[in-house]
Amino acid sequence: MRIAVLGLGRLGAFHAKVLRELPGLSELRVYDADEARASTISAELGLAPAASIDAALEGADAAVIVTPTGTHAPLIHRCLDARLAVFCEKPIALDLDTTKAVVERVARVNGKVQIGFQRRFDAGFREARRLVQGGALGTVYSFQMTSRDATPPPDAYVETSGGQFVDQLIHDFDVTRWLFADEVDELYATGSTLGFPQYAQFHDVATSAAVLRLRGGAVGLLGAARHNEAGYDVRVEVYGAKDTIAIGLDPRAPLRSVEKDAPKFKSPAYPSFFVRFGEAYRAELAHFLRFARGEAENVCTVVDGMEALRLALAARTSLEEHRPVGLYEIA
Ligand SMILES: NC(=O)c1ccc[n+]([C@@H]2O[C@H](COP(=O)([O-])OP(=O)(O)OC[C@H]3O[C@@H](n4cnc5c(N)ncnc54)[C@H](O)[C@@H]3O)[C@@H](O)[C@H]2O)c1
Repeated sequence: MRIAVLGLGRLGAFHAKVLRELPGLSELRVYDADEARASTISAELGLAPAASIDAALEGADAAVIVTPTGTHAPLIHRCLDARLAVFCEKPIALDLDTTKAVVERVARVNGKVQIGFQRRFDAGFREARRLVQGGALGTVYSFQMTSRDATPPPDAYVETSGGQFVDQLIHDFDVTRWLFADEVDELYATGSTLGFPQYAQFHDVATSAAVLRLRGGAVGLLGAARHNEAGYDVRVEVYGAKDTIAIGLDPRAPLRSVEKDAPKFKSPAYPSFFVRFGEAYRAELAHFLRFARGEAENVCTVVDGMEALRLALAARTSLEEHRPVGLYEIA
C-alpha cells in the first residue's frame, strides 16, 4: 500500500515514523507546506519529500492528513476526488457546516475516512468500555475525565486550533459517546485564561471544565488544562452502582498522593501525548491500513467526528453565554 502523509509537524512526523514501521506499506510519501520542515523530517525518515500535495497523492492508495485543523476538510475532499482512503486527525473542521459537507460527501461517494480519536485504541479505554457496556459496573451514575497537557502548545498552534473545547476536550467528548454508548443531552462549560492572558485574543481559554448530563441520566464532569508540569495527564473515573473503575492510573501517572502510606504512583510521569498514547497511535494507524485494504470496519467515522464537534461547540456556546446548552441547539 502506498501512503501519503500530509503535514509533518508535531504529530505528522510521529505518524510518518509509526507508518514506516508498520507491515504492509510498499511506499511512504511525505509532504509539508513548510519546505525546511519537510526536508528535515524526510531526511530523518530517509526519504525525499514530495514537491507538492498533488505529487504526494499521485498514485497513492491512501492519505494521512495531519495538517492544521482548518485545512482538513479541503484536503479530505481532495483525497476523495482522487478516490483515496483517508485518515484525518481530529477535528474534521472548525465549524459544523464544513463538517456536515464532509459527512454528506463521504456518505454520497461511499468514501473511506477514519478520524483520529486515538483514545478508542488505547488498551485502558478499551477495557473500560468492555466493562461498562458488559454491565460489570451496574448502572453508571457518573464519571470524571481529566485532560491536561504537560506543556502548552505554541501560541501559533492555539490561535488556529479552534479553542480548548474543539481542540483538546473534543477527545473527552468523543470518549463520552463511545464509552457509554449514550448521547449528551445538555452541558454547562466554563473556563479561564489564568496564566495565559494572551489566549483572550484567540477567544480561547487555558483551563476549563464542563458538566454533562447524558440522555440516560448519567452525569459527567470534565476538566482540562493546557499546562501541568506534573505530566501529561489523561484519566477517567467511572462510578457505577456495583463498582468504580479508573483509566490512566498506572505507575507513570502524574498523580502523587500526599498520604504517607499511599501507593507510590510517581515518576517518570508522561512527558507528552506521544508517550501516553504511543501504542494507541500505532494501533489506530494499523487499524487504518486494515480499513483502507477492506479488511476492517471503520471504528471512528466522520459522523463520530461531527458529533464530537457538536459537543465542543455546545461547550463553547455555554462558555460564551454563561448558560447550560441543550445539544438540540447545535444543529
Ligand atoms: N490526536 C491527537 O492526540 C492530536 C495531537 C496533536 C495534534 N492533533 C491534530 O493534528 C493536527 C496537526 O497538529 P500538530 O500538533 O502536528 O500541528 P503542527 O502545527 O505542529 O504541524 C502542522 C504541520 O502542517 C504543515 N502544513 C500546514 N498547512 C499545510 C498544508 N496545506 N499541506 C501540508 N502541510 C501543511 C505545517 O507546516 C506544519 O508542519 C491538528 O489538526 C491537531 O488537532 C491531534
